[in-house]
Amino acid sequence: MGMVYMDMPGGKKMPGIGLGTWNAIDETELETALDAALECGYRHIDTAFFYENEKIIGRVLHQWISAGKVKRDDLYIVTKLAVSGIHPDRVEMMLKKSLEDLRLKYLDLYLVHFPVGVNYVEGHVVPPASQMRLEHTDHVELWKKMEEQVDAGRTKAIGLSNFNIRQIERILKCCRIKPACLQIEIHAAMQQKELVDFCHKNGIVVVAYCPLGAPGYNDFLKSVGQKPKELPNMLQNPVVKQVAQKHRKSPGQVMLRFLIQRNIVPIPKSVNPSRIKENIEVFDFNLDAGDMKKLSELDIGESARICDWKFFPALVDHPEFPWKA
Ligand SMILES: NC(=O)c1ccc[n+]([C@@H]2O[C@H](COP(=O)([O-])OP(=O)(O)OC[C@H]3O[C@@H](n4cnc5c(N)ncnc54)[C@H](OP(=O)(O)O)[C@@H]3O)[C@@H](O)[C@H]2O)c1
Repeated sequence: MGMVYMDMPGGKKMPGIGLGTWNAIDETELETALDAALECGYRHIDTAFFYENEKIIGRVLHQWISAGKVKRDDLYIVTKLAVSGIHPDRVEMMLKKSLEDLRLKYLDLYLVHFPVGVNYVEGHVVPPASQMRLEHTDHVELWKKMEEQVDAGRTKAIGLSNFNIRQIERILKCCRIKPACLQIEIHAAMQQKELVDFCHKNGIVVVAYCPLGAPGYNDFLKSVGQKPKELPNMLQNPVVKQVAQKHRKSPGQVMLRFLIQRNIVPIPKSVNPSRIKENIEVFDFNLDAGDMKKLSELDIGESARICDWKFFPALVDHPEFPWKA
């Protein structure tokens, strides 16, 4: 048993686990984390213009590539078009900014971060709340510009994040280049079975964010002045703990393995070298059918959603907000 890979357009393969980097903005901490991750075998790194850490990641990647410790072709680098770039006129400009900061000639995957577009204010990754305006968002026109980025060689593949089935179907009907990937929140408490099945039937690779149930999410809410919310806390769940004990693994490893066996690619975030190592050591054991059934029964659906994007309250009123009741 070893690392699994997902076939992606253009022959490039996506490693079956990636390093998440949201809320990792301290330079020294993120540099140490990236070094630790690359040392222990991560080759897939997930970032976003919105995370404001592309420059730090770019610097570390440049060091590793120029020292001959890794080849660019062996890396799988993913970043995302911010909500302030979700307009056909700004896709190319935003992707070029990300490439420059990441010090790369091409990305492996460029994702539309969220189905809703807002105005762009120079110098801000997203406009300050007082200046934020919702814009009309036309996914068909936006997707044409995403396709042009593949034609121009700026990215090997393009995909979506946080889109619902209706929104993906609309793009599938009109596209020239299919979305290769959908990145969504998935963890044991919110398993997104219908959306995952839909993607797999349509040949779309599914990537899971918050795969550990985002235990640090309330620190983020606090940092943006919002009230904490109740989190599913699956790392402490008795069923997850019991399965972990049976396999002599940690609860986090079981949560990640559960996703991998569902053919989903988890991108756990950590800046802690020992947890980074722990999170990739998930290719040396197998959950059996009984474990999979028990874990599958932990799904409580939409009510367990953590990252509801309501930290940008204005977005909820947009007609393309993906999770309307
Ligand atoms: N497309 C989107 O809209 C979207 C939204 C959210 C996230 N994402 C992406 O998905 C990635 C993962 O999601 P996430 O960061 O929200 O949540 P997550 O990966 O489920 O959880 C990260 C948290 O878990 C802790 N942690 C890491 N490994 C652990 C372990 N083995 N045991 C216990 N705790 C552990 C981390 O702390 P330490 O760092 O201290 O270890 C951090 O606080 C993000 O970083 C980002 O790249 C995308």
